[in-house]
Amino acid sequence: MTTRRDAAGAGVPGRARGERPLRAVLVTGAASGIGRAVTELLAERGVGVVAVDRDEDGLASLAGLGGVLPHVGDVTAEETGRAAVALAVEEYGLLDGAVLNAGIGGTRPFEAPGAVEAAERIFSVNVRGPALGIRAVVPALRSAGGGAIVVTASVAGIRADPGGWAYNASKAAVINLVRAAALDYAADGIRVNALAPGLTRTRITAGGDRSPALRAAVERNIPLRRFAEPREQAEAVWFLLSPAASYVTGATLVVDGGLDANLGLLPLPEPH
Ligand SMILES: NC(=O)c1ccc[n+]([C@@H]2O[C@H](COP(=O)([O-])OP(=O)(O)OC[C@H]3O[C@@H](n4cnc5c(N)ncnc54)[C@H](O)[C@@H]3O)[C@@H](O)[C@H]2O)c1
Repeated sequence: MTTRRDAAGAGVPGRARGERPLRAVLVTGAASGIGRAVTELLAERGVGVVAVDRDEDGLASLAGLGGVLPHVGDVTAEETGRAAVALAVEEYGLLDGAVLNAGIGGTRPFEAPGAVEAAERIFSVNVRGPALGIRAVVPALRSAGGGAIVVTASVAGIRADPGGWAYNASKAAVINLVRAAALDYAADGIRVNALAPGLTRTRITAGGDRSPALRAAVERNIPLRRFAEPREQAEAVWFLLSPAASYVTGATLVVDGGLDANLGLLPLPEPH
C-alpha cells in the first residue's frame, strides 16, 4: 500500500527528484523542424532554453523568443555540449533537462561509392552526438537534483526502410543508448527516454508530401493518413520532460500516426 511518505518520494532514490517542472533545457537541432518546435513550446511555457545548432542563421531567427539562448556548435564535437551546459548554468543558474534531437539522414545504397563514409557521418551525428550530449549534461542535471533527457530516435529505428540501412541502424542504436543511460542514471533522479517520430513535416521530409508515391504510401500505411506537424512531436517531448512522466524512463514514445502499429498487409478502413 502506498503511504503518504512513499507518495512524496521520501527515501526512494530518484523518486522525488525530477517531479518538479523543469526550469532550463538544452535543445540540440534547435534551428529547424522538431527541435525548433520544442524550443518554441518550452519558451512559450516559461522554460529557459539553450538552443544548439550548427546552423547559425537558423538559430538567429529564434532571437525574438524570450528565454532562448542560441549556441552555435556541432554536436559531434565534445566542446559543444560543455560550452552549452556552461552557458545554461551561467544564465539560468542550473540545467535540469536536455532534448538531444539533432540528426541527419543521407544513407547511400550498401554498394554505392561513399556509402561507408556517409554512414560514418550519420552515426557520428545520430549516435555519437547524443552520447556526447548525455556525457555533457549529466553532471549538471545531477547538481540540479535530477532531471530529464529526451533523445530523438525514429520509427525508422524500430522498422527498416528499403535503402535506409545506415539511418535505420543509427536510430535503433539511439533506442538502446537511451535504455542503457536510463539504467545508469535512474538512481540520480535522471530519467532518459526516446521519442520515435513518424513522418513529420520538416526539412528532412521537405517536398515528400508532394510526391504522389509517398502520398499514396501515407494513405495506405498510416492510419491517421497524414504527416505529423513538428508541434505534435514537441508536445510528446513536453510530456516526457514533465512531472507527468515521473515514472517513465528507458522508454520509447512512438508518435507516428499509427504507422508502427500497422502490419500493412490489408487496406485501412475507409471513414464510416
Ligand atoms: N522529420 C521526420 O519525419 C523525422 C522522423 C523521425 C525522426 N526524425 C528525427 O528528428 C530529428 C530532427 O529532425 P527534423 O526532421 O526536425 O530535421 P531538420 O533538418 O528540420 O532539423 C535538424 C536540425 O539539426 C541540425 N543539425 C544537424 N546536424 C547537426 C550537427 N552535427 N550539429 C548541430 N546541429 C545539427 C540541423 O542544422 C537542423 O537545424 C532528427 O534526429 C531526425 O532524425 C525526423
